[in-house]
Amino acid sequence: MGASEASGSAPSKFSLFSFRKQRDNYREYSNQLIDAHTSEAAGSLRSEDERRLKEHTRYYYERIYERASAVSRDRNFWNFGYSGADVLEGIREHIPEFADRNETDGFSEQLYFYTVMQLPIKFEELPGMSLLDIGCGGGEGLNFLSRTLPDTHMIGLDLSHNAVDWANARFSRDSRLRYVYGDAENVPVGDSELDVVVNVESAHTYPDNRRFLEEVARILKPGGYFSQVDVYSHGGKWTRTLSTRSEVDQLEWICDKDISAEVRASIRSRCEPGSFFQRQFESLPRIYRAYIFRHFTFLYGRIFAGIPDDNYIKLLRRLRLFQAGKNETLPPGACYRYSLARKR
Ligand SMILES: C[S@@+](CC[C@H](N)C(=O)[O-])C[C@H]1O[C@@H](n2cnc3c(N)ncnc32)[C@H](O)[C@@H]1O
Repeated sequence: MGASEASGSAPSKFSLFSFRKQRDNYREYSNQLIDAHTSEAAGSLRSEDERRLKEHTRYYYERIYERASAVSRDRNFWNFGYSGADVLEGIREHIPEFADRNETDGFSEQLYFYTVMQLPIKFEELPGMSLLDIGCGGGEGLNFLSRTLPDTHMIGLDLSHNAVDWANARFSRDSRLRYVYGDAENVPVGDSELDVVVNVESAHTYPDNRRFLEEVARILKPGGYFSQVDVYSHGGKWTRTLSTRSEVDQLEWICDKDISAEVRASIRSRCEPGSFFQRQFESLPRIYRAYIFRHFTFLYGRIFAGIPDDNYIKLLRRLRLFQAGKNETLPPGACYRYSLARKR
């Protein structure tokens, strides 16, 4: 199946031919991402490459959410999580029993909560605020935030139809929580409408970061905040991100922190034998576990966290489905960063 067929949601039949096609497609996508991350030159992607990278991203996530919604219950998070006592405490001020009942390990929720905890505003004192989550995935993160900030109007936006359908079917609630389909580089929201924009582990696949930041600046009210966590390579991607940020005059960057240690701590906990996350994953039907090539956490996550290869990764490497330095989109030189900007 080619990338241009990405938006179809019918499950594809498994055959050696389609497997090879998908593998090649995936390799090409990984290599595109690596190039986009490691190139030092600003604006180095040509428009044709940008289009193809976005098509691949759409295709890839449509398939992930299609599989996920076929097998999964709730807790359908697709981020690496964050592990920090202060964030956990902050959440428990709103939800005292949070992560006590063996329903979640709480790390993905912590990553989401971190983005609002860093804001220099008190949501409780400002009922009716509007918040947009760009790249919301299956909607769990925003659904969780809406439990901690019940008087805030929240919208999630994602490039995957499957993700948005899943999120609306499970979580949407009148004007307080809804999900829409859309592209981060062309957001379907009017000028100066929003108080806060959050963006969790999503922007690393956007082909044109400058266009994305200009959109964020356009849709925020003056004085509104943009709160973001994402992964960068220490070299190319981060250097380029800094130079792109300086070109978008309307955003004033007021905080930047390396949160790699807390993200690695979450991944390490999840990779421990018998962890909540492992048990959840092991409870999925075997065919799906194989089909989605295991969860990101067990592949890229463990490389980022410095955990030695397990037998599964060794096998993938032997089959040349996972090549060192080639399709590891999180090279050891990667870092996780939190950034906060205010619209002037
Ligand atoms: C790693 S997932 C993170 C999902 C969610 N934020 C979370 O933390 O659970 C990245 C998400 O970004 C979305 N995405 C990628 N490119 C996008 C774009 N150009 N516009 C909107 N969403 C995009 C993907 O569809 C995917 O759902």
